[in-house]
Parts: sequence; C-alpha cells; structure tokens
Amino acid sequence: MSSKNKIRLKPYINGSIMLTRLPEISLRPVRIEDCHIIWEWANNFDIRQASFNENLIDWETHIKWFKNKLRDPHCYYWIGLNSDKKSVGQIRFDLDPKTHEAVVSISISPQFQGRKYGQVLLEEASDILFKKTSAVCIKAFVKLKNQRSAHVFKKAGFHEFSKAIINGCPSFIYMKSKQ
Ligand SMILES: CC(C)(COP(=O)(O)OP(=O)(O)OC[C@H]1O[C@@H](n2cnc3c(N)ncnc32)[C@H](O)[C@@H]1OP(=O)(O)O)[C@@H](O)C(=O)NCCC(=O)NCCS
Repeated sequence: MSSKNKIRLKPYINGSIMLTRLPEISLRPVRIEDCHIIWEWANNFDIRQASFNENLIDWETHIKWFKNKLRDPHCYYWIGLNSDKKSVGQIRFDLDPKTHEAVVSISISPQFQGRKYGQVLLEEASDILFKKTSAVCIKAFVKLKNQRSAHVFKKAGFHEFSKAIINGCPSFIYMKSKQ
C-alpha cells in the first residue's frame, strides 16, 4: 500500500488527535553514478555507528563492494527521491533465493534525517519487494542502542522477532512478512 499523500491520525494521551502527513517518496534503482553519494552517506558518523562494522570505508573498498552489489541479481537496491527529486536515502535488500528471506539495510542522508523519509522508504520499498520478487519475509538487524531505528522499523510494520549478539553487539532482529 502506498504511503503517498496519506494522512495519519496520531492519538494524543488526552484523546485529541494530531494529523501527521507523511512525505512523498519515489524509488529508482541505484546506478553507478550513485557510488560516491552512497560512500559519503556510509561514512557519516551516525551511519557508521549504526553499522556492525564501525570502521570508516575507504573509496577503493567501496567501489569494489558497490559494483558487486549492482551485478548481484539477488540484490534489490533503490534510491529514495523526495518530491523535489532529491536523493534522500538508500535502501538495499539482499534476497536469499533458497529461503526467500531478504535482509534490509537502510540509511537516510544526514541532511534529510528526522523527516519520516526512513519510515516511508521502508514501507514503500518493502511493498515493492513483496510484489515484484519471491521474498516472503524481510529481516533487519538493529543494534539495541539504535533506538531511533528500532522505532522506525516498528512504525513501518516490522515486529521484534528475536534478540541476538551480532559482532559482539546486542541487537534486535526485526521481521516483516508478506501479507
Ligand atoms: C534510522 C533512520 C533510517 C530513520 O530514518 P529517519 O527518516 O531519520 O526517521 P523518521 O523521520 O522516519 O522517524 C524518526 C522517528 O524516530 C523517533 N526517534 C528519534 N530519535 C529517537 C530515539 N533516540 N529513540 C526513539 N525514537 C527516536 C522520532 O521521534 C520519530 O518518531 P515519530 O515518527 O513517531 O515522530 C535514519 O535516521 C538513519 O539513516 N540513521 C542512521 C543509519 C541507521 O541507523 N540505519 C538503520 C540501521 S538498522
């Protein structure tokens, strides 16, 4: 279901309501020209902190990794564009063709964080993945300390599936299944 132009009703504790308009977002496949901006985003401090390998990524390593992702037929990789056609973030699903489970990775450009693009990008891209591929469920690995990300996954319809230690880091595993 598209989130475009949707207005959400958010209940207040005292019973009144607030109207929450979600931003518009469209998706396009990642292209080779996106290599540099994705590298810049990846090396942003907050985005590195959210990752299970917090080291900075050098350019050569990134290009090699990026080209492999573009060649991988089981990798679904999109850029989210806002209504001004500006790139606001990236979302990637690595699909296992045997189990039909996908693992998601998302980041929003530092300048566009906190404007609900993360929630909308997750919702829209998950819908497309379920419609267009054999994926039956999506998993997300989120550090326990990344409360903002955990909150956004829950808002985008994911539920806590389990907890695990990943690379020494206590983490949630969130999951969303095809409806
Ligand atoms: C996590 C991320 C994808 C979220 O996208 P975003 O567009 O910034 O987030 P949104 O604007 O959709 O939502 C932010 C929500 O988190 C809430 N929030 C912010 N900081 C929070 C915190 N410390 N604890 C709990 N909730 C928090 C906000 O109040 C807002 O909630 P609301 O929609 O109920 O008002 C983005 O911030 C990002 O790229 N972060 C760095 C990389 C990362 O963490 N990636 C995910 C790895 S699993």
